[in-house]
Amino acid sequence: MRILLIGNGGREHAMAWKLAASTRCSALFIAPGNPGTARVGQNVAIAATDIPALVDFARRVAIDLTVVGPEQPLVLGVVDAFEAACLLIFGPSAAAAQLEGSKAFSKAFMVRHGIPTAAHRTFPAAAYDEALAYLQTADMPVVLKASGLAAGKGVVICETRSEAEAALRDIVQDHRFGDAGDEVVIEEFMQGEEASLFAVCDGDDYTLLATAQDHKRVGDGDTGLNTGGMGAYAPAPLVSPDLEARICREIVEPTLAGMKAEGAPFRGFLYVGLMIDARGARVVEYNCRLGDPEAQVLLPLLASDFLELALAGAQGRI
Ligand code: AMP
Ligand code: GLY
Repeated sequence: MRILLIGNGGREHAMAWKLAASTRCSALFIAPGNPGTARVGQNVAIAATDIPALVDFARRVAIDLTVVGPEQPLVLGVVDAFEAACLLIFGPSAAAAQLEGSKAFSKAFMVRHGIPTAAHRTFPAAAYDEALAYLQTADMPVVLKASGLAAGKGVVICETRSEAEAALRDIVQDHRFGDAGDEVVIEEFMQGEEASLFAVCDGDDYTLLATAQDHKRVGDGDTGLNTGGMGAYAPAPLVSPDLEARICREIVEPTLAGMKAEGAPFRGFLYVGLMIDARGARVVEYNCRLGDPEAQVLLPLLASDFLELALAGAQGRI
């Protein structure tokens, strides 16, 4: 099979390495790739978000399956564009990628389907005064989130009311995260320990990869601002087999059933960020892709054929 992988991170190096290891892979192209991916396949100078050029390339070189690394092309509708061109691709549609692309959507979705998560309120930028008033009564610490994509940096944890007011100003009035701050989610601070669970989904069914934990803070000794992840390890010892079964029942299965019922079945890698305490697990966020750097620790642990897994997902036969 001739494979196209979209992306250029460390995650895509791990994905390319694992795809190239499949006996079914006859050619592997990575757009745009990086020096790591060039060692296991052929880089193609097309940006991950240049959807028309990606479709054109896939047609021209007869790609059999495309796999998507990062969230931006998914949220922009790369899967919809490939499917409209009758090209096989593994990833969620733009509608399903809203689980990551809009925190306002994903929080409302969880409420609609009884999926455990922090209590929250969503405010459009126009409701700034209302959001400010809400902060006067909210318990501290409180968490403010730009609703749109912000590369893992759009979340501010505020210990005091004045920090929260400053963060609201930053997100909504000063556009620190650009359009991502057109809506702001204000939510309850959850205590606990974080872990991530990864499911490979075909719209109906799923299978699990390992769990992982990442190191979020920028500084040594867990200090400084949150990042998209400074490093990771897998599996996460925190997630026992019993807890994993509960997470599947209470979170993964209702998520897939809910997306399907809403007309946006989730096909692709579902990354569930979890906060775990003595009572169980709650969702911190969804991502619609593998994590970076989590993929770099998950994929070396995968004994089965990664290409076959992505193909089964794309063809609805997980
Ligand atoms: P998110 O982009 O929503 O995953 O948020 C990034 C990080 O901020 C999470 O991985 C957590 O470390 C932290 N965080 C987000 N929401 C909460 C919350 N409600 N309570 C505590 N920590 C949070
Ligand atoms: N490491 C966090 C993420 O990929 O979103």
